Amino acid sequence: MNSGLDVVILAAGKGTRMRSQYPKVLHHLGGTCLLEHVLRTVAGVHPQRTIVVLGHKQHQVQEAFSGRELVYVTQDPPAGTGHAVRCAKAAVHAPQFVVLPGDVPLLPPQAVEELVEQHKKSRNLVTVLTTEVADPTGYGRVLRGAGGQLTAVVEEADAGEEVRSVREINAGVYCLSNAPQLWSALDELSPANAQGELYLTELVRVAAELGAASALLWPRSEELIGINDRRDLAQAERILNQRTIEKLMLSGVTVVDPEHTYVSPQTLVGQDTVVFPGTHIHGECWLGRGCRIGPGTQMIDSQLEDGVTVEWSVLQGAQVGAEAHIGPYAHLRPGARIGKRARVGNFVELKAASLGDGAKAGHLAYIGDATIGAGANIGAGAITCNYDGTSKHPTHIGAGAFIGSNVALVAPVTIGDHAVVGAGSVITQDVPPGALAVARATQVVKPSWKDRREVT
Ligand code: UD1
Ligand code: CA
Repeated sequence: MNSGLDVVILAAGKGTRMRSQYPKVLHHLGGTCLLEHVLRTVAGVHPQRTIVVLGHKQHQVQEAFSGRELVYVTQDPPAGTGHAVRCAKAAVHAPQFVVLPGDVPLLPPQAVEELVEQHKKSRNLVTVLTTEVADPTGYGRVLRGAGGQLTAVVEEADAGEEVRSVREINAGVYCLSNAPQLWSALDELSPANAQGELYLTELVRVAAELGAASALLWPRSEELIGINDRRDLAQAERILNQRTIEKLMLSGVTVVDPEHTYVSPQTLVGQDTVVFPGTHIHGECWLGRGCRIGPGTQMIDSQLEDGVTVEWSVLQGAQVGAEAHIGPYAHLRPGARIGKRARVGNFVELKAASLGDGAKAGHLAYIGDATIGAGANIGAGAITCNYDGTSKHPTHIGAGAFIGSNVALVAPVTIGDHAVVGAGSVITQDVPPGALAVARATQVVKPSWKDRREVT
């Protein structure tokens, strides 16, 4: 633990520019909410206490993070970032503290560490993280004196044309000293600015005038993107996705078209796996070596062993054994377990069902709450009738069984090993191992029917 350090996360703002009924920090990026991203960054610097300033819709945020070791401070109504830090005064115990906005999700822990290090060395009141961007729109601009020394941060709303052309921006991340001088400067902030708020950025000007401020210029500006509206959110998605995919490619995964492939940062992929365009991998997924996934596939919280092929399919909470083939157009729902070298084909849906090694369900089937033995064959149009309108019931199909086309298996029901069920049967009773069951109306054939109709 970094015993000399507390962290204050600012998340009380209204997030007006998101135009949302949800707090901004609960919006998702790469499948994880913004505040969770920031907390992961914070975890990387091991602070003594993590203080979160909340205001607008604070209960929603607290509910989403219940059970976490966080100190909450209320700022209601939000009157600016300077006011937010002021609200956290009593909660800060350590001699130094880092302030970060809840809307800068890609900030790496390393940037915070270097900021703290520079702050401790300089013994200043304020050290601010800055970066240079091609388009500084929306950010506070960093002003420096003739010798390059930091003099102030000016918000865009208060900036003239000349200041607006400055490309060095304030990332909104600071290391501050828990000193009386700092708190009295915060107490003296004035809302005499274009937004009528108490700006934390004014602290930079005050500290710079005392010769007690410096800046750390971070080279990778894309890591400091602030999320103010949904365009920023989409841009952050692009940055995060690109970073994830580059890492995969460098580790030996072929991504045919990185711009049309979406992979969550937690995903693990084995060597020589090929990911085709239009593939979305979300949540906690791992894919083995030599898999082929996509095109047009969505995979959520699922695992593939080595050599699996998945095309044009949706998998959620599924596990697939080595060298199995899924799709096109299969839907594996939570609890689907597919055995090695098994095959799930066109328009087949599985839910809470296991398909044994080498078993096949090639076409148009629904298999729910079922176990299917190794090498079994499920014909086109077979349905497990697992729901009677009130409860779900199980179906067991033995190894090597053959279920003909268009069979309805009315659960609960068991089909023994190597049993055969004739096409079109409605099966309501168990079928013993090795037996043949046919349960359909006997075909009636009337010869010369046409001739008889012509006579009458
Ligand atoms: C802020 C900075 C700007 C910087 C940018 C970096 C100020 C005045 N401006 O602008 O210089 O370039 O971040 O991304 O600080 N918040 C509160 N209480 C409030 C107001 C805001 O907790 O009263 C929180 C918000 O929830 C948000 C963070 O502070 O998480 C930043 O607020 P935001 O309104 O997004 O500031 P920016 O306009 O982005
Ligand atoms: Ca912001």
